[in-house]
Amino acid sequence: MHSLTPIITLTLTLLSGASATNTTAMDHAYAAATTLQTYYNPTTGIWNTCGWWNGANCLTTMADLSLKNETINETAVGVFENTFRVATNTNPYPARGIDADYTAANGTAYTIPGQPTGAANASLWLDGSYDDDMWWGLAWVAAYDVTGVSDYLDLAEGVFYHLSRAWPSLCGNGGIDSDYTHVYVGAIPNELFLALGAQLANRAADSEYYLDWAKRQWAWFEASGLINDDHTINDGLTTACTNNGMTVWSYNQGVILGALVELHRAAGSPANSTYLEAAGKIAQGAIAALTDAEGVVHESCEPDACDSNETQFKGIFVRNLKWLQGVAPNETYARVINASAASLWANDRTDANGFGVDWSGPVTAAGVNASTQSSALDALVAAIW
Ligand SMILES: *[C@@H]1O[C@H](CO)[C@@H](O)[C@H](O)[C@H]1NC(C)=O
Ligand SMILES: *[C@@H]1O[C@H](CO)[C@@H](O)[C@H](O)[C@H]1NC(C)=O
Ligand SMILES: *[C@@H]1O[C@H](CO)[C@@H](O)[C@H](O)[C@H]1NC(C)=O
Ligand SMILES: *[C@@H]1O[C@H](CO)[C@@H](O)[C@H](O)[C@H]1NC(C)=O
Ligand SMILES: *[C@@H]1O[C@H](CO)[C@@H](O)[C@H](O)[C@H]1NC(C)=O
Ligand SMILES: *[C@@H]1O[C@H](CO)[C@@H](O)[C@H](O)[C@H]1NC(C)=O
Ligand SMILES: *[C@@H]1O[C@H](CO)[C@@H](O)[C@H](O)[C@H]1NC(C)=O
Ligand SMILES: *[C@@H]1O[C@H](CO)[C@@H](O)[C@H](O)[C@H]1NC(C)=O
Ligand SMILES: *[C@@H]1O[C@H](CO)[C@@H](O)[C@H](O)[C@H]1NC(C)=O
Ligand SMILES: *[C@@H]1O[C@H](CO)[C@@H](O)[C@H](O)[C@H]1NC(C)=O
Repeated sequence: MHSLTPIITLTLTLLSGASATNTTAMDHAYAAATTLQTYYNPTTGIWNTCGWWNGANCLTTMADLSLKNETINETAVGVFENTFRVATNTNPYPARGIDADYTAANGTAYTIPGQPTGAANASLWLDGSYDDDMWWGLAWVAAYDVTGVSDYLDLAEGVFYHLSRAWPSLCGNGGIDSDYTHVYVGAIPNELFLALGAQLANRAADSEYYLDWAKRQWAWFEASGLINDDHTINDGLTTACTNNGMTVWSYNQGVILGALVELHRAAGSPANSTYLEAAGKIAQGAIAALTDAEGVVHESCEPDACDSNETQFKGIFVRNLKWLQGVAPNETYARVINASAASLWANDRTDANGFGVDWSGPVTAAGVNASTQSSALDALVAAIW
């Protein structure tokens, strides 16, 4: 009996050690967030040197860090208030694609039970690229999670309302097209539609309404052909509605993970639900395809060919991998998160705590901007355990 005491003590020590916040990781994320804020432009409401949809991701990653750090929270709450007020003036194409263009592709709009409170404001956040629209929807859910401000949740519901009117896509009587021109069915808008619907199912008053949408969207997505035999997701579908074999971008392996975690939660599924099983397969397929021997995540365009959208993607993957890790942990995921954050800090950092596009480093000639910075911040935040 005596020998049990030290074992119990040791076990408790290890457990509490594992759950205590790693202050080094906090310091690193804090430093990266401080540098990100040097790009924030109070007049435009987004971050200088990156685009409109990237701004939504900057806001989201600041919100995620806010949940863990009160000092950043103060900054972030100010950002939310200001951005909510002014950023629609920066939208390149406000309300593009609304009305006629937002009716369903087959001419029949899906029946909506009354227009939600935020729908009018939401229209000003839409630019006709449905993925951009939903990045903002998710950003306002993230801001709502930090602050509880109902205007933010209303806005996210309004975004979903408009996008739901773009359903179904050109393919298979479900899903949504990539934009208001209705010529391409991409993976990303469809993952985002699922993610936003599932997140709203866990937060909005009409939970069942959003859960029903999320379930139908996942049923469509799973059968769409977007997921390939390696359990990774290609860029989109052909005009014949089959997998187009185009690039396996990291963000397309990421958004779906958080979406399935939220759907699992909303559906009240058992711990081993098919949603989590599907997410696990995609996470493992993505890690096999997109990480190096150290476990650091890479994009196929690195080091010199990533455009101003592609520089954002990896952080989105890691942010969502951490989400999955929270409900269905796997050492492999933790290793990727830790290795990416550690490599960013050690190998891909400027003296001013700016981070470049290739997380193995060095910082490339194209340098650092708010997109590479916020993407790195996602990984650094994920590595706060
Ligand atoms: C804390 O985080 C840093 C940076 O991510 C890492 O290098 C270090 O090993 C971590 N320390 C512990 C005790 O886990
Ligand atoms: C926020 O981060 C800073 C820098 O790492 C740290 O000094 C502070 O204690 C953190 N705050 C919280 C609440 O963790
Ligand atoms: C962040 O700030 C908001 C608004 O002041 C507050 O309601 C919330 O509790 C804060 N959260 C944290 C984690 O400090
Ligand atoms: C159009 O799509 C909606 C939603 O899936 C469906 O309910 C409706 O029957 C379709 N209409 C036609 C004419 O195919
Ligand atoms: C719409 O946005 C304005 C600020 O631009 C805000 O004052 C108002 O409360 C918002 N309305 C709703 C219903 O969220
Ligand atoms: C998941 O759990 C259910 C019972 O809750 C069980 O019937 C099923 O076999 C389990 N599936 C797997 C793959 O473990
Ligand atoms: C941000 O920097 C990366 C390289 O570090 C570059 O590929 C990207 O185009 C830059 N973005 C903008 C908007 O200039
Ligand atoms: C980035 O994405 C936006 C839409 O989200 C698009 O309008 C723009 O052309 C893209 N930029 C590049 C360099 O492909
Ligand atoms: C964890 O991921 C590895 C692949 O990286 C996989 O072989 C293993 O089955 C996973 N474990 C669980 C419990 O899902
Ligand atoms: C990841 O880092 C955390 C915190 O430093 C540590 O507790 C954990 O063991 C690490 N996991 C892996 C697989 O590296």
